[in-house]
Amino acid sequence: RTDRTFTMLKPDSVEKGHVGAILEKITASGFRIVAMKLTQMTLADAQEFYGVHKERPFFGELVEYMTRGPIVAAILEKANAVEDFRTLIGATNPADAAEGTIRKMFADSISENAVHGSDSDENAAIEGAFHFSGREMF
Ligand code: CMP
Repeated sequence: RTDRTFTMLKPDSVEKGHVGAILEKITASGFRIVAMKLTQMTLADAQEFYGVHKERPFFGELVEYMTRGPIVAAILEKANAVEDFRTLIGATNPADAAEGTIRKMFADSISENAVHGSDSDENAAIEGAFHFSGREMF
């Protein structure tokens, strides 16, 4: 369980045709895909998924963005998955993201930042279970 993280390739990544390139970078970095699907979050899904941010000024914009088109949701496995995946994606704001990170390469702004990565083992488990049933995990 602690060797897993959860990711979403957000609507901007799908719209811009970056899914293949981002998945290539993820698997080339040693992550195994345990579960994956193209899906679209409903308003209620996004409000629940991002519930921790509901008092933030950007909450409305975040929910609108995350529901405007399909995402690729996936569970990834690797030793030290949560921390290593956050290193691979880079800072929340692509302007601050290190060279070679996914957000540096594919994100345009802090609000449309291409990818999600869980911030803890506990949230990885919660977020993975939000999107996938046990029989969808391999
Ligand atoms: P993530 O860290 O995956 O989850 C929370 C999201 O909220 C974040 O990605 C951004 O998409 C968005 N977000 C965070 N900070 C801001 C901000 N200051 N303005 C707009 N959106 C933000």
